[in-house]
Amino acid sequence: MSKAQRMSLALFLVLNILAAPVAQAQRARRDVERSIEALLARMTLEEKLGQLQQLDGHADGRYKDEQPELVRKGLLGSTLNVRGVRNTNELQRIAVEESRLKIPLIFGFDVIHGYRTIFPVPLAEASSWDPASVERAAQVAAAESRAAGVHWTFAPMLDIARDARWGRIVEGSGEDPYLGAALARARVRGFQGADYSAPDRVVACAKHWVAYGAAEGGRDYNTTEVSETTLREIYFPPFRAAVEAGVGTFMSAFNDLNGVPTSANPFTLTRVLRGEWKFDGFVVSDYESVKELMNHKLADGEADAARLALGAGVDMEMVSRLYNKHGAELLRQNRLTRAEIDEAVRRILRVKFRAGLFDNPYADEARERAALMNPEHQRATREMAARSLVLLKNERETLPLDRNLRSLAVVGALADSQLDMIGSWSGDGRKEDAVTLLAALRAKLSPRTEIKFAKGCDAPCASGEGFDEAVRAARESDATVVVLGESADMSGEAASRSSLELPGRQTDLLKAIHAAGKPYVVVLMNGRPLTINWAAENSPAILETWFAGTQGGHAVADALFGDVNPGGKLPVTFPRAVGQIPLYYNHKRTGRPSDANNKYTSKYLDVAWTPLFPFGHGLSYTQFRLTGLQLSAARIPADGRMTLSVEVENTGRRAGDEVVQLYLTDAASSVTRPVKELKGFERVTLRPGEKRRVQFTLAPEHLGFYDREMRFRVEPGAFTVTVGNSSEGGLTSSFEVFEQRTPRRRVSSGRVN
Ligand code: GLC
Repeated sequence: MSKAQRMSLALFLVLNILAAPVAQAQRARRDVERSIEALLARMTLEEKLGQLQQLDGHADGRYKDEQPELVRKGLLGSTLNVRGVRNTNELQRIAVEESRLKIPLIFGFDVIHGYRTIFPVPLAEASSWDPASVERAAQVAAAESRAAGVHWTFAPMLDIARDARWGRIVEGSGEDPYLGAALARARVRGFQGADYSAPDRVVACAKHWVAYGAAEGGRDYNTTEVSETTLREIYFPPFRAAVEAGVGTFMSAFNDLNGVPTSANPFTLTRVLRGEWKFDGFVVSDYESVKELMNHKLADGEADAARLALGAGVDMEMVSRLYNKHGAELLRQNRLTRAEIDEAVRRILRVKFRAGLFDNPYADEARERAALMNPEHQRATREMAARSLVLLKNERETLPLDRNLRSLAVVGALADSQLDMIGSWSGDGRKEDAVTLLAALRAKLSPRTEIKFAKGCDAPCASGEGFDEAVRAARESDATVVVLGESADMSGEAASRSSLELPGRQTDLLKAIHAAGKPYVVVLMNGRPLTINWAAENSPAILETWFAGTQGGHAVADALFGDVNPGGKLPVTFPRAVGQIPLYYNHKRTGRPSDANNKYTSKYLDVAWTPLFPFGHGLSYTQFRLTGLQLSAARIPADGRMTLSVEVENTGRRAGDEVVQLYLTDAASSVTRPVKELKGFERVTLRPGEKRRVQFTLAPEHLGFYDREMRFRVEPGAFTVTVGNSSEGGLTSSFEVFEQRTPRRRVSSGRVN
């Protein structure tokens, strides 16, 4: 064989080896589609409608008495809240061994930040700006969930939130679409892996589709009015990232969006999700959101609600039963078509096949016992909590505390609350597993350090009767840790607040501790930004800990005494006053940009228009310096790419993490653009004196925006990049984007086209 022949044979073999996995995946998809069609052809209309039905189990994980018979008749396709191998296997056995077509159930559950091992709340995880750690947290949650018989989590929650009054801000990744998209990809990868039929993975669910966080007044479930430009540039990106990461399901939302509720909105559910993004999984409604179309006064009765939802693209109905109740009648009346019903069933069967439920419908009790709360998972949640902490203020290096203190006062009910440690939506978490800050400090400090605990007041803090005891403890101690904030039930679903103040008389308690004149630090436990103006002005140190999860107490204690150096950054803006809301960093410039020296500009009479703490803010126990911003070019074509880099140096005495953030500003554009937008970030760990050059790439997907015709495109013109450690300040440079002139062709008529 000649050399050329040998080369071509080798190339042929290599290409086949490389192409093998792709070909195998294509074969697997074809096999699934064939299996779906074969099954669909055998299903009665009642069995098809049964697959579109999800019903609720008991809060403790047991299924409800009516459900075995529904499953046996093929009239139920899924449950939520049924969990624990014994419960799921019992119901699954009926589906797989006693029903006519033996279609397995898919068990769903809200595993938002952990199943039994609870991780920091999602807003805390977002504060880590660390997709790899967030992915790890989701992977642990998936491993415990699948071991416990749960196949499908109603997560990640991808709602952008620009209004801290909205309680569900705690469940998401904050106000920015770029950070939100990065963490959406991380969580989908963590939950699903490369193949969500694996025994330690679950199907993920991108929710709540869409713009639920834009609720007017920050009042949960309220109406939303959002322009298509803002939808596409702010609210869509995390969901699109989830589709690109292969998310198996979506959940439609409760909110009315521009007059068409999201659980009956053909634009979002079909034109965008199916037409533009080619999503081929299924959409489940939110809890009775199909039936609530009647409350919206969109639907004229139950049958109309079923028609509107299923016709718009909601495939599975959660808890309400209108599809089952009215499907046959709607079909007879030609108000629904068989094709619409078949397509919904097809999508659900596709996810069940991809989840491996036909091949492996059962869970294993031994695996469940080995997975839940195992030591590796405890290490993972403690590490995630440590990386989620945000040091908001630290004057005169008040933190970290000296571990040789003779005495330490711990003040505040939250310091000793296991329930609040695990936050809202805490899955199958057990509060008795949670390590509080007080317990962690007692475990950490030597017996020579006397720890005095004084509640001062309980979480609502209506009364000051415990203040004297707390002040006495502070006076008698070398230092005091004051734990303030919200109870976990003051954020999450149906938990909006009209105020962002520390609840009750907590600020009075803080002032009393301050007046005692001894060293103290503030630890915050909260589910949203708070207007902590007095603390920001007067307290020497403030550590934001959110709700830090099962091992959160250890992580916070580690940070207070310097075994952890906080490196998190805020994923949301902290306003000075609730009256500033909505307040977010990527705001528009306006025709009268705020100027304290000019009356007739956009600002308030009674409070500075700026945030108390900006998006991206977070300090460290060491210091960092950014220098040497370099751009790969001064000009690039509209379809070109730009690389830029900056040097980060740890100029302090401790190792620590910095999150380098890249913001882009468009100098002028045919549609007004935000004053700046996050387009890159990287969290780096540096030893004292260590330097590292961090590099970013800007490509058309970063430079472009939706123009007046709603086309995504890059416009020529000047851009400024800002690279810093917060959304305020940083090194700047500029570059230009020019139109890529393709050579003009002259045509016979002499006209130039
Ligand atoms: C709730 C929530 C949704 C959750 C679902 C099932 O009302 O809106 O986030 O996944 O119902 O519990």
